[in-house]
Amino acid sequence: MNVLVIGMGYVGTTTGLVLCEQGHKVIGLDIDKNKINSLNDGKLYFYEKGLDELLISHLNRENITFTTESMDAIQSSDIIFICVGTPKNEDGKADLQYVREVAMLIGRYINNYKLIVIKSTVPVGTAETVTNIIMENNRDHIPFDVVSNPEFLREGNALSDATNPDRIVIGSSNMEAAKMVSELFTKMTAPIVMTTSKTAELVKYASNSFLALKISFINELSTLCDRMNIDIDEISMGMGLDHRIGPYFLKAGLGYGGSCFPKDVDALLTTSKEYGVNLSILEQVVSINESKPLYFIEKVSRTLGELKNKRIAVLGLAFKSGTDDTRESPSLRIIEYLLNAQSIVRVHDPVVTTSMKEVEQFTNVIDTVRDVDAVLICTDWEEYKQLDWSKVKEVVKQPFVFDGRNILNKDELTKVGIHYYGIGKP
Ligand code: UDX
Repeated sequence: MNVLVIGMGYVGTTTGLVLCEQGHKVIGLDIDKNKINSLNDGKLYFYEKGLDELLISHLNRENITFTTESMDAIQSSDIIFICVGTPKNEDGKADLQYVREVAMLIGRYINNYKLIVIKSTVPVGTAETVTNIIMENNRDHIPFDVVSNPEFLREGNALSDATNPDRIVIGSSNMEAAKMVSELFTKMTAPIVMTTSKTAELVKYASNSFLALKISFINELSTLCDRMNIDIDEISMGMGLDHRIGPYFLKAGLGYGGSCFPKDVDALLTTSKEYGVNLSILEQVVSINESKPLYFIEKVSRTLGELKNKRIAVLGLAFKSGTDDTRESPSLRIIEYLLNAQSIVRVHDPVVTTSMKEVEQFTNVIDTVRDVDAVLICTDWEEYKQLDWSKVKEVVKQPFVFDGRNILNKDELTKVGIHYYGIGKP
């Protein structure tokens, strides 16, 4: 099959390379010339483990090419994956301008039957909108089908999630078209859910919102654990062993961030209101999440006193480990609070370089923590777990460590003379 993938972000680039692995010839299309040049040179412009080797291997074997020329790309393909971004509008809705533009181009340039697959996270009803836009622009009434196939991959695990998904959801009004899409994934063992487009679209929002809810639940409970002197990680373990609950997404911390959860929860809330339904539970999920960075800062100031002129080391800028993405990262909110309180902020991240002028960034942790009044762990990087904390103790001014991700062992830190504060920890 000749496959075109439109939108070379995390989802599009990963989808394209995974389709190459499945034996298809792929063209990657994007309007951003810099992205396309970089990909054609074998360089990813974002950090994702395993993906760069795959890119070079498929470029060398001529299984994938990248272009900005939409007409040629559309006309030379049988299947088109739409993977463009759907960022959040000011009113909380998903912004569909890129999806609409792509649909318009497909309609304008369609030259023979095309199977169009929407992978981007899009509001319920978008497959219908895309169909209508293509029809309006498709003067010769060339046949096509639109299928919804939401992507569930996580940043930092993109490749393994895309090749070994828990499930494949395929929605369409035409079961023949849905079957054609399922045949693209014959090498995968995941169960396939065949349904309508609207259901497939809602499954994606419902899944992300439920995971966000799990995180907010455990985060709210961690506040109670703080007061009651109970360890939230032991609560998570005890709860997670119940199969009906499951052990995942029960790690208390600074709240969820990233490009998906915050935007998808807001989009589902907005959609539900349009239908006259108030998903008030999700309003709570959002407000608990937004309260976490300030709660953490309050914990720091209860111990340090006034934060003005205090030197604080912030370890981690990415919204989670394994990625260089800082979108909606709790770490940035924490830095903002510290700067507003006139603290002196020193930062470290193994892969992110900040452009913030008000902070000083270091390339190694020991330089970052030298002479500081407190160390704040804001991202769950492995490097921080493996750190020799006795060395940290030697160079800091005051031995206070606030672990916003509960990744360190309190007893080990206490042994070397550090005062350790976790989230929901005795
Ligand atoms: C998420 C979904 O998992 C994925 O299916 C979807 O396609 C895109 O959105 P991603 O944003 O890459 O993926 O990150 P994920 O690993 O799901 O984590 C989201 C946020 O939740 C991170 O900020 C993470 O630190 C936080 N989190 C996760 C917790 O705070 N506790 C947990 O137990 C799990």
